[in-house]
Amino acid sequence: MTEITTPDEKIKDAVREAYGNVARRFVEEPVGTSCCGPSPAAVEEPKESCCGPAETSAESTGYAARFYSDAELTELPDTVTDASLGCGNPTAIANLRPGEVVLDLGSGGGIDCFLAARKVGPGGRVIGLDMTPDMIQLARRNAKKLGVTNVDFRFGEMEDIPLPDESVDVIISNCVINLSPDKSAVFNEAFRVLRPGGRMTVSDIVIDGQLPQAIRSRLDAWAGCIAGALDESDYVGKIRAAGFQDVSVLSRTYADISESAEWEEMRGLLSDDGLDEQDMCRKVASVNVQAFRPV
Ligand SMILES: C[S@@+](CC[C@H](N)C(=O)[O-])C[C@H]1O[C@@H](n2cnc3c(N)ncnc32)[C@H](O)[C@@H]1O
Repeated sequence: MTEITTPDEKIKDAVREAYGNVARRFVEEPVGTSCCGPSPAAVEEPKESCCGPAETSAESTGYAARFYSDAELTELPDTVTDASLGCGNPTAIANLRPGEVVLDLGSGGGIDCFLAARKVGPGGRVIGLDMTPDMIQLARRNAKKLGVTNVDFRFGEMEDIPLPDESVDVIISNCVINLSPDKSAVFNEAFRVLRPGGRMTVSDIVIDGQLPQAIRSRLDAWAGCIAGALDESDYVGKIRAAGFQDVSVLSRTYADISESAEWEEMRGLLSDDGLDEQDMCRKVASVNVQAFRPV
């Protein structure tokens, strides 16, 4: 595996700053955005994304329309849908049931928390965890706008989850774990807070093979959900090592990075590392992964 030489706190500061910048734009004035491109600060280019070929989506729902159905997006304000920064739709596959307690790691503006809240109903509860203060502020404002009472946004890091052991039925996460410099700590903590028999369903970015050091060491590429992405088998291996069972990759969608303007610089670095155009189409993928804490 390519060695990560950048100190963890430096990576986290860069991630926090990048997503804080995005959140502040929504608190101050809502704008369209994209998720995990090389620079989340590049919100002026709303139609580009790492998570698949750049494409045009419905004006009203912007980037979110790529992953969520119209039915899911109606009734959500723009400050929720336009602040969507994920690479999948974990609540669509988590099989959430009324009454369950759900934890969303890296909840951002709160889109998946609000969708989960509908599914678990008034007898259930959703906790959104995020380490960026401005994101927590945005999510709490969004909750107020929506009038939801079964969602609670907490400030904290997923490597040290501020919840008791065995207190959660389901963990979801959308395009976040790749951002952590210590993924083993994230999966260990996820295992700890899940009740026996509980499940984890995450959407995330993985890569095929390794990334060149020139990308791994770039802080903007960390914040852009690429530099921290692991090879899929390493990712799954870390989940298993934390104690999870029945770990499965439910789906994998390759991002076509061979064309998008946003990927131009990364393409250059990958090409310097020997990747041809064909390899580029299968280098980066968004995956849905499910795993269970044994009973
Ligand atoms: C790409 S955004 C995804 C947000 C949200 N899941 C969505 O789908 O819109 C990543 C989010 O994860 C948060 N984050 C990154 N690293 C984190 C960590 N170690 N602990 C908690 N939150 C983290 C960021 O602050 C940001 O809000």
